[in-house]
Amino acid sequence: MKTAILGASGLVGRTMLKLLADRQWLSAPPRLLVSGRSAGAKLPFRGEQLVCAEVGPDSFAGLDIVLFSAGGAPSRHWGPIAAAAGAQVVDNSSAWRMDADTPLVVPEINGQMLRSAGPTTPGGIIANPNCSTIQIAMAVAPIDRAFGVREVQVTTLQAVSGGGQAALAELKAQNAGSEPTADSLFPRPMAHNAVPAIGAREADGSYEEEGKVGRELRKILGRGADLEVSCTATRVPVYNGHSAAVRVVCEKPVVQGLACGVLAQWPGVEIARDPHEYATAREMSGRNAVHVGRIRVLPENPHALLMWVVSDNLLKGAAWNAVQIADVLAGQN
Ligand SMILES: NC(=O)c1ccc[n+]([C@@H]2O[C@H](COP(=O)([O-])OP(=O)(O)OC[C@H]3O[C@@H](n4cnc5c(N)ncnc54)[C@H](OP(=O)(O)O)[C@@H]3O)[C@@H](O)[C@H]2O)c1
Repeated sequence: MKTAILGASGLVGRTMLKLLADRQWLSAPPRLLVSGRSAGAKLPFRGEQLVCAEVGPDSFAGLDIVLFSAGGAPSRHWGPIAAAAGAQVVDNSSAWRMDADTPLVVPEINGQMLRSAGPTTPGGIIANPNCSTIQIAMAVAPIDRAFGVREVQVTTLQAVSGGGQAALAELKAQNAGSEPTADSLFPRPMAHNAVPAIGAREADGSYEEEGKVGRELRKILGRGADLEVSCTATRVPVYNGHSAAVRVVCEKPVVQGLACGVLAQWPGVEIARDPHEYATAREMSGRNAVHVGRIRVLPENPHALLMWVVSDNLLKGAAWNAVQIADVLAGQN
């Protein structure tokens, strides 16, 4: 199968390129598409140097799968063009996630819908969820199947790589002593700080990232407003790897041993031998799995379960989830 990456020079694009190197279904090196800013840049792939090209109307001819990681506006523009050219788009941006014709997929949770629908979707686009949503969904889905989740409360501690390569460069500069400038990507100084505001502020006082978690979690789990989700999303001065403190309230009382069992058996989830143990962002950075630790039933409320959920936002939160979707489309998963 033939593929391309739109946004190949970015953090997610480079990560997807590395993951594609060992896909057996790839029949040719991926086409690397970027804006005019980095056209001509070279990226390594299977021992070769591939040259990035500026995306244009003819970029998608003859392709089977196109992985998008160029941001919302390019996705909205190029998504329908790539789909009309016959490619199946897998999009990392938020542009299409809540579109009714666009499946929002975490393969371990609802990948079956792609297997049963065949290799194309109605609009030709499949959306990858938000990075925090994916890891939260991976921890909540097995608990939902076993105990029926009716409420999710979460506080995220999100790495700066989640904001792309410019955000990462800015934190590195601040760590080296630079003062934030007026055009900073962060609303407050990021070094040695924690900032409870990711994305634009909404009319109700929440921030954009927090609404995404609720809406997307419901769509992935196939739930409606009956699932109450509250989220406080914070940016912390971690280079890579998101953490989340998650509390779920279930219909049935939660049995700790059974909760650990369903989590341990869920594909893509890891738990420690001692459920009170935990992983950190540094330990999970570079790994595909989602780690669930600090697993405990609240003594005052046997329906409430607490978890500490950690994952690499560039891998399971973006590139790995997208490549897993591509594997399903290629009939390899
Ligand atoms: N970072 C994460 O952890 C994460 C997780 C989940 C989802 N996402 C989503 O994935 C997307 C990419 O994120 P990122 O972190 O990789 O960002 P990034 O490091 O800033 O990279 C952005 C990429 O998009 C390209 N691009 C920007 N505008 C373009 C345009 N108009 N036409 C063509 N290409 C364009 C850039 O190419 P140039 O070099 O030519 O500018 C670059 O390759 C975003 O939508 C983001 O929300 C990111």
